[in-house]
Amino acid sequence: MPTTTIVPPPGPKSFLGIRLARRLQRDVLGFSMDLARQYGDIVAFRCGPVRFFQFTHPDQIADVLVREARKFHKPRRLKRILGKWDGQGLILSDGELWVRQRRLVQQAFQPRRVQAYAADMVRAADRMLARWEGAGTLDMVAELHRVTLDIVCKTLFGVDVADHAEIRETVQTLQETAVREMGRLVPLPDWLPLAGKRRFREAIRYMKALLDEIIRKRRATREDTGDLLSMLLLSVDSEGDGAGMNDQQARDETMTLLLAGHETTATTLVWATWLLAAHPEIQERTAAAVADVLGDRLPTSDDVPRLSAVDMVIKEAMRLYPAVYFTSREAAQEVTIGGCRIPPASQVHLVPYVVYHDARWFDEPESFRPERFAPGYEDRLPQFAYFPFGGGPRVCIGKGMATMEATLILASLLQRYRLAPAPGQGPPEMEAQISLHPKGPVRLSIERRGGAGEAATRKSAIGAT
Ligand code: HEM
Repeated sequence: MPTTTIVPPPGPKSFLGIRLARRLQRDVLGFSMDLARQYGDIVAFRCGPVRFFQFTHPDQIADVLVREARKFHKPRRLKRILGKWDGQGLILSDGELWVRQRRLVQQAFQPRRVQAYAADMVRAADRMLARWEGAGTLDMVAELHRVTLDIVCKTLFGVDVADHAEIRETVQTLQETAVREMGRLVPLPDWLPLAGKRRFREAIRYMKALLDEIIRKRRATREDTGDLLSMLLLSVDSEGDGAGMNDQQARDETMTLLLAGHETTATTLVWATWLLAAHPEIQERTAAAVADVLGDRLPTSDDVPRLSAVDMVIKEAMRLYPAVYFTSREAAQEVTIGGCRIPPASQVHLVPYVVYHDARWFDEPESFRPERFAPGYEDRLPQFAYFPFGGGPRVCIGKGMATMEATLILASLLQRYRLAPAPGQGPPEMEAQISLHPKGPVRLSIERRGGAGEAATRKSAIGAT
């Protein structure tokens, strides 16, 4: 029988792992970077009885996400914290439930249906840009979170956030609570009479009541209004028991899509606008490419494949500042990865941020060079050297939707405005929350791009090159 050599991986040690657990809670990104720098691609450490493994080589990432995917599930800690609002939604579920739900939810993400959302996306971007008229300086964090939340509410359950202003506040409360709880070694019980806990209880109550009401009305009419929720309610598991999902599951999936479907896109766009503001030449080049495709008209879904200059900026922004900078799994059974034996219940960390800043895969990894993502580049990279939407069976279900949305919003923005850092706005610091945020606001000066005069100058400048 062949024998496997089990190599104990290197890693830090501390008494009971207390110091390591604290760093992991408080500075997950800095900690993961330090581990990779000091110990390499495979690192192991312990916090009390729990074993942790960090993998930052594309081969081992492929092992965890694809080849051995079935031997892992989502970490119990994540389920305990995020499960309070996502319930058993797609991000947290595992096993048979996940397989069935993935089949059902996937039906709502057919490319044909997703493409139909382009008009809602462009309308929301257009409303935002009209609001910007004469504003001078704006915080991109507030603006881009607002527009992506508007879009997800419209495309998910057909609601205009303008008519339900409480949604914005509620979603913010839920996110702030999740961030706070993730940062605690031991989460506090929800019934405690603290102001934060009370706000959280109210936010959950509000969202559940809103979604239950929408689902009840939809069930009563059985109407396909074209949004994602319609499809969630109409989908049936033809490969399984032939039934659909119940109301509770539909609510969990809707909540999951609401939270997963706007924060990551917003953060990606905030970083992209900052990078363009800080690199005016690249911004002008990209704006000229947008003008070439669109002229003065609004974009449509058909334009997305032709807006490759915008796509390259978004990809490079996701490389430098990946919204999902960290992916975790728990071993459901014993498994060997990269010659390293992983006992059941061990925690496995994959850290895209570390991979994307590694000079083995990306030349000058700290430079903003969107042109590296010219067509064909990703095919030449090792598989899983770049995976902003994850991979394997649990690849992001909203990948196509997010790509289209980010492209349409950024193209619309560049068509109309020129961005520059506002006075006093330096490079934003990173804050590793649920996604990789800039710390505090990102204030940019916005200047309306000229009308016909500027377009003509730009055309002749392009013609001269
Ligand atoms: C730029 C935007 C986005 C990024 C970078 C992103 C990234 C990711 C990544 C990396 C995963 C895999 C996580 C893991 O393996 O643990 C994931 C999963 C997921 N994403 Fe996204 N996502 C984005 C937008 C969206 C949108 C727009 C939606 C839906 C409207 C969405 C819904 C989901 C769901 C439901 C999952 C769980 C899939 C499963 O486990 O079966 N995401 N996303």
